[in-house]
Amino acid sequence: MGGYSIEHIRSLVEDARVHRDVYIDPEIFDLEMERIWGRAWIYVGHESQIPNPGDYFITRVGKEPVVMTRGKDGQVHVIYNRCAHKGAKVVERTCGNAQGFRCPYHGWTYKLDGSLQGVPARSGYADTGFDMKDPRFHMQKLAQVDSYRGFVFACQSKDTPDLKTFLGDAAATLDNMADRSPEGELEVAGAPLQYVHDCNWKMWVENLNDAMHPMVAHSSVGDAARRYAAQLPEGTPYPREAEIIFPFGSSYKFFDEMGVTTLPYGHGYMGGEMSIHTEYSEIPGYFEAMVASYGEERAKQILSQNRHNTIFYPSFTAKDAVQAVRVVRPIAVDKTIIETWHFRLKGAPEDMLKRTILYSRLINSNGSMVGPDDWDCYARMQEALVSQSYEWVDMRRGLGKEERLDGKERSFGTSDLSFRNQYRAWLDYMTKDVEDREAA
Ligand code: FES
Repeated sequence: MGGYSIEHIRSLVEDARVHRDVYIDPEIFDLEMERIWGRAWIYVGHESQIPNPGDYFITRVGKEPVVMTRGKDGQVHVIYNRCAHKGAKVVERTCGNAQGFRCPYHGWTYKLDGSLQGVPARSGYADTGFDMKDPRFHMQKLAQVDSYRGFVFACQSKDTPDLKTFLGDAAATLDNMADRSPEGELEVAGAPLQYVHDCNWKMWVENLNDAMHPMVAHSSVGDAARRYAAQLPEGTPYPREAEIIFPFGSSYKFFDEMGVTTLPYGHGYMGGEMSIHTEYSEIPGYFEAMVASYGEERAKQILSQNRHNTIFYPSFTAKDAVQAVRVVRPIAVDKTIIETWHFRLKGAPEDMLKRTILYSRLINSNGSMVGPDDWDCYARMQEALVSQSYEWVDMRRGLGKEERLDGKERSFGTSDLSFRNQYRAWLDYMTKDVEDREAA
C-alpha cells in the first residue's frame, strides 16, 4: 500500500467534488477495506437468522470471511471463518445448525464461539508450545460484536466507539422498523435477493439518497404508471403495484419537500414525516393490531415516521416503512454484491409481508421495473470514469444551503448534502491515525 500518502488521499476529496480515482483505483479499494470496512461497525445479519443454539450463517465483513453463530448459552458470536492451523475456510454452507465446526483439511474442531475443541493425534504437539486454551489456536473473534433491535453488527477495531454511539439517530429507523410489529420484533423472511452490481460500492450507497435521478433514470416507469392511471375508470382504487410504483415518477418538488438529513459517521436519511411510502393504503387488521398493542396515540406516532432510505455508512441501508434492508458486500473496485432482506412484523397480518416482498419484486429485483435503470447508470459511470478527459465527480448541488442543528445537517431533498457527508466520513476513516503511523 505504498502508493498513497495522506496528502494524496486528502487531495482526492474537496468540498464540492471528489476525484474519479475513489471509484476506479484498486489500490484505493484495498485501502478502504482496511481503513473503512476494518474500522466501522459492519452489518452482519439479523438475530432471527440464527434463532436456536447451534445455528450459524456465513458472510463477509469487508474482505474477511466470517461466521455468525448462536452458542449453546444463546449468545451471538461473530468469528473469522479461518482455521487457526493453516488457514482453510472452515464453514462452507451458507447457514445451518451444528454442534461445532470441523476444518475439512486436518480436522481441527472448534466450538460455536470459535474456541478450539480438539485436534487429531494431539500427542504430536507435545513440547511444541501448543496449548488448546491459547487463543492463538482458536478461530479468532472480531474485536467488537453487538446487536440493536436484533440487527447484528461487528467491528474489526477495538478503538471504534460502541455500536449505540456509532448508530446515533440512525438507530431510530431500526426502532421504528421493529416498533411497527405489534410484538415489537422482526423476523427475517426467507433468503435474500442477491445481485452482483458492476460498480464501485460507493456509487450504490450514494444513489440511495440521490433524489435527482428518479425523474430521469426512472422516467419510463413513471410515464407508464401515469398512462395506466389515466385510463382507469374514475373512482377505481389503484392496485397495490401502482401505489408502489407511482412515487418513482414524482417531481423534483416532491423530493425537495421530503428533505435530506445527515448524521455523523456518514449516515443519513431522506424523508422523516413524508416519503415515497406515505400514501400506501391500509392493510386490513394491521392498525387494529397495533392499537391493541400500543394504544391508539402511540400506534399513530409509530406509523407517522416515514424515512425513505436510511444509510448506515458504509454497509447497511434500511426502509422503516417497508421492512426491507439492503446490505452492501463489496468484492472488487468495480463489483459489489447487494443483498435485499425482507422482514415479517411479528403479530401483524401476513399481508404486510406480502407487500414488502411485492415492493422488492417491483423495485429491487433484477427483473424489476426500477432497479435495472440504476444498475445501468452505475455501469456507465464505472465504464466512463476511466476517461482521461476530466478527473472530477461533482457534488455541489445545494452547497452552503444546509441547516445545522444538534449534530445533524438538513437540506432540501435534491441537495447533494448526503454525498458530501459520506465523503467527510470517508476522508476521516481513510486518514485518521494513519498520519501518526506514517510519521513514526
Ligand atoms: Fe484447518 Fe489444517 S488447515 S486443520
